[in-house]
Amino acid sequence: MIDTKLKHIINKYSLSFDEKKFQNVKKIIQYLGELDEEILENIILENYTIGESYFFRDENLWNILKRKIQTKNNWDILSLGCSRGEEVYTMSFILNDSGINYSIKGVDLSYERIQQAIKGEYKFWSVRFLKKDLIEKYFEKKDNFFYVKNNYKRDISFMQRNIILEAKDNSKTYDIIFIRRVLIYFEEYQISKILNDLKLLLKKDGYLILGKGEFYPELLELFEPEFYDDIVLWKNSKNKILKKNTKTSLFKNKINLKYPEKKNLQPSKNNIEKNILKDKILKTYTHVTLEEELEIIEEMLNKENFIMAYERISHAIEKYPLNYLLWKYKGFVELRLGKNFKDSISKAIYLNPDDPELWHLKNS
Ligand SMILES: C[S@@+](CC[C@H](N)C(=O)[O-])C[C@H]1O[C@@H](n2cnc3c(N)ncnc32)[C@H](O)[C@@H]1O
Repeated sequence: MIDTKLKHIINKYSLSFDEKKFQNVKKIIQYLGELDEEILENIILENYTIGESYFFRDENLWNILKRKIQTKNNWDILSLGCSRGEEVYTMSFILNDSGINYSIKGVDLSYERIQQAIKGEYKFWSVRFLKKDLIEKYFEKKDNFFYVKNNYKRDISFMQRNIILEAKDNSKTYDIIFIRRVLIYFEEYQISKILNDLKLLLKKDGYLILGKGEFYPELLELFEPEFYDDIVLWKNSKNKILKKNTKTSLFKNKINLKYPEKKNLQPSKNNIEKNILKDKILKTYTHVTLEEELEIIEEMLNKENFIMAYERISHAIEKYPLNYLLWKYKGFVELRLGKNFKDSISKAIYLNPDDPELWHLKNS
């Protein structure tokens, strides 16, 4: 039943079926219980639209971290699955701006991405959500490329390595470990092990940070969640580690949460706490942000599903009429569907005259 429902949503958004992602979504849904259609869709979209990275991705997270870093003078940070370094440099921008000391290490499996991260060279796509003054502050622009300025490259190192090995290397401990949109690549049995290992790599009261909307029930066993609307920080304030090959007690209690026995109709303090937690976790899924909306649309464009993309873009434009990328995509889709596209492209150019692709499209 749940399989059919999920597959229907995957088809509806023309997402390609992926067994690992599917099992992960199922695990989350089984933990959370009955969900309405909109939340179900959001959980799927959060877990399926995992692609490129960009600077200040999940803006709300960076605002929270800007406040957190004020609490001490030195931060050791690890970014696992750092891709081309966008997350590492974003952290360096905010630490530098606050005059706080730090060391940041970025680790990724891909040699090519690590080389790009070391270079600090980006295309417009990676900086697309930054305001012009911030682009000028953090980057040198040369021939349509954006280079991270040298002062933001201090005390940063990058390494090509498998996360599984890195997580076991406890020669150093960290205040913050990012592992955003990466665990989705691993099998279920590996995820518990990695989370256990990362707990040992974190300093006491350090934070583990996953991607927005990413949730694994094991996290609740190992860490204390700190909720900030759609963002959760997982604090290393518990002493526990998971035993080998055991399911979490939250899993064991799942049936009890849904169908309390008659003699136990009065919810226990424990169950009330778990339900409050579940409500808070659900909250992290309740709205699709502009960034996620753009990712969904990009996914449709990649698959050349122009009719659906057109519908999605038109809806999104009602919500975000000043976003030039939406107008750019609208114009592009209109061009591909043989409609009049000049009006949309003119609006995009009005909102951002610096994107050379728009001028190219205008003259198509
Ligand atoms: C979707 S990107 C996430 C980038 C960034 N963390 C973010 O959220 O914006 C996932 C990254 O994880 C890396 N990755 C996947 N499996 C890995 C592994 N076993 N060890 C190291 N990196 C891995 C991929 O190469 C990719 O760059």
